[in-house]
This record gives sequence, C-alpha cells and structure tokens, in this order.
Amino acid sequence: MLKILNVVGARPNFMKVAPIVAAMKQRPDDFLPLVLHTGQHYGAAMSNAFFTDLDLPQPDIHLGVGSGSHATQTAAVMERFEPVVLKEKPDWVLVVGDVNSTIACALVCVKLGIKVAHVEAGLRSRDRTMPEEINRLLTDQIADLLLTPSPDADANLLAEGIPQERIRFVGNVMIDSLFKNLERARESKIKTELGLAENQYAVLTLHRPSNVDDRETFERILSALETISTRLPIVFPVHPRTRKTIAEFGLTERIAASKNLRLIDPLGYLDFLNLYSTARIVLTDSGGIQEETTALSIPCLTLRENTERPITVEMGTNVVVGTDTQKIVSEATAALNSKQKQSRQPPLWDGHTAERILAALQEVSRHS
Ligand code: UD1
Repeated sequence: MLKILNVVGARPNFMKVAPIVAAMKQRPDDFLPLVLHTGQHYGAAMSNAFFTDLDLPQPDIHLGVGSGSHATQTAAVMERFEPVVLKEKPDWVLVVGDVNSTIACALVCVKLGIKVAHVEAGLRSRDRTMPEEINRLLTDQIADLLLTPSPDADANLLAEGIPQERIRFVGNVMIDSLFKNLERARESKIKTELGLAENQYAVLTLHRPSNVDDRETFERILSALETISTRLPIVFPVHPRTRKTIAEFGLTERIAASKNLRLIDPLGYLDFLNLYSTARIVLTDSGGIQEETTALSIPCLTLRENTERPITVEMGTNVVVGTDTQKIVSEATAALNSKQKQSRQPPLWDGHTAERILAALQEVSRHS
C-alpha cells in the first residue's frame, strides 16, 4: 500500500489531480491518497467550483496560504507544508504543473528525503522570464519521478542530463478529465445564458503577467480583440489578476465600448468546457487551454511569443501568434476563414494517463 500526498494549489492543478485521486480511490488495497490544498487559489470561482465539478474530494489538509509576492507565497507554502509532511510521512508526494505550490512542496520534500513525483514534467518554453519556467526547471531537477505528457518533454529532460530511469512517458492527465466530463458538460446552460449559438463565437482567456501586467502589451492585444469582435462575439471569462489590471490601467470604459467583447466572471470546469468545446476559435495565453483545444480539434491562437507545449502546434490546432496587433488579427482572420478541422492527436492523450501514473508509482516503488 502506497500512501500518496497529492498537492493542489492553483486552478490549473485541480483537473490534473482529480483523475489521479479517483483512480487511487478505486484501488484501496494499493493506494491511500490524501489531498492537500495549499490555498494559492481560493474562493468559489477559482477553487471551490472545481472540487464540485470534478468530483475531487474535499482536501484532507488545507494550508490556506492565499495570494502574495512570489517569495511570500512560496515561503508560506514551504513553512506550512513541512510540518504536515513530517506528520503524514507519505511514501510519495505528488505535485503537478508549474505553479508556485509545485516547486514549494517539491523543495520541502527533497530536503526531508521524501520522494516526489512530478506530473507534467519536462515542458519547456525556454523563456526564463516566465515564473512557471523557473518552477518547471527546478521541480524537474529535484523530483524523483518525472511523469511526462509528450515525447518532447522526455527529450528536454534528457538534454538537461536527467537520467532515463527517472522519466516515464505517461501522456496528458488533463485530457483524462476532459474526456471524463465532456458528456456532463453538455448539460451546462452557459451558452443559453449568454445567448450564444454553437460555433459562432470566440472564447478568450488572458492572465499571464507578461500580457496583463504590461500596459502596452495589454493595449496591443485589446486593439486586436476590438477588430476581431466586429466579426463575432468574444466571450472573456476574466481572471482576478486581469480584472485588477483592467481597473488599474483605466481600461474599463474602453472595453465596455466594444459591445461584442463580453467580459464575464471566471467559470467553473463544466461551464468552461461547454463554452470552449463549441467555440469557433479560442484565443488564450494559458498552457492548459492550448492542450484542451488540441484534444477537441478547436483552432487556438496563443497570445504569447513561445509555448512550452509545442506538440499542440505540431498537431495543427495551435498557432503561437505573439502580441502584435496586426499579427493577431491576420491569424484570427485566417483561422476564421479556414474550413479545415485537424484531427491528429498526440500519443497517449487517450483518457488513461492516470492509470499509467499509478503503474509508474508502483513500479518505481518496487525498485527503490
Ligand atoms: C497562477 C500561476 C500560473 C497559472 C495561474 C492560473 C504561479 C507562479 N502562477 O497565476 O502559472 O497559470 O495561476 O490561474 O504559480 N487572486 C484572486 N483569487 C484567487 C487567486 C488569485 O483574487 O483565487 C488574485 C490576487 O489578487 C493575486 C492575483 O490574482 O494577487 C494573482 O494570483 P497568483 O496566484 O499570484 O497568480 P496567478 O496569476 O493566478
């Protein structure tokens, strides 16, 4: 029996951990899973809704760290996590993704000699100004087991000198959640509430500090959105970070003047899945949404200069367009005019990644 402490902290963690914990609960003779929430994200919209939507058990332990600077937040997670992990003595701590909670918990464990498994290991944007890239690089250096979503991730890890024995290619666990919930998501009434017809609107998300904390970049993107929105409505569930900067930059009125640019509160997992799964096009700076649109063959424009998920570009759904107004508009126009829908899928994005993660944990535990 393996006791596994599964860490969640921020919104993009919940859909990665939910299928893993569900798979562990189905095998009570082999696994004892605990869920620990650091509290990096909190409240109904950014946290609670996901537990309900994803059937993720309520956290066994909640650290309640909340927001803060990178140093404050990372340090708070570390300080509060250390006594918990000492008390619980898990066989493994499982961390996912690239948020501050990921590196904070991994760092505590490695110093205590507690084994860490990193889900979604090996992704690299090669842009060290992104906080997530630092979190990814450091977590992968210290974790004992690196569970990768795509072959490029394995290649990145090997190139960094990480031995093959620590790496297992298991596929993309976010896609487990997507496939599992697609039917349930169809019941959401979000499109009716917003008065939208299938395939006749765009979905936008924007929250990267490099986009929303920088006034010039934000305005360049906004100009492009104003043009695109003359062609079809753009639905924009607004992340709290972005909501704050819109107000700080005095952009509220300018945005309100674009009637077809429709700002709404952040959505839960099922409503958001319902919304983007029948969108004509998605514009985003999120990592996970690049993958989810690939899995559903939805055209995606990534409003960044780079991506740590090149496989989504290779499969043909995703175009990394940057933040130049003209470039965004011309790529959006090309995507909207195209009739083609791609159907290539990355290997092992098949809805069975959680099972392979459990198998890898067992296999590696037998040999250590
Ligand atoms: C974090 C992750 C990012 C991930 C994103 C998804 C890091 C370094 N960044 O960025 O990788 O893509 O989550 O959402 O870990 N706030 C709230 N309610 C919340 C959370 C945040 O109002 O539940 C506000 C706070 O004012 C906070 C700001 O949003 O200061 C930013 O939150 P923070 O957790 O620092 O970073 P994110 O931008 O959410």
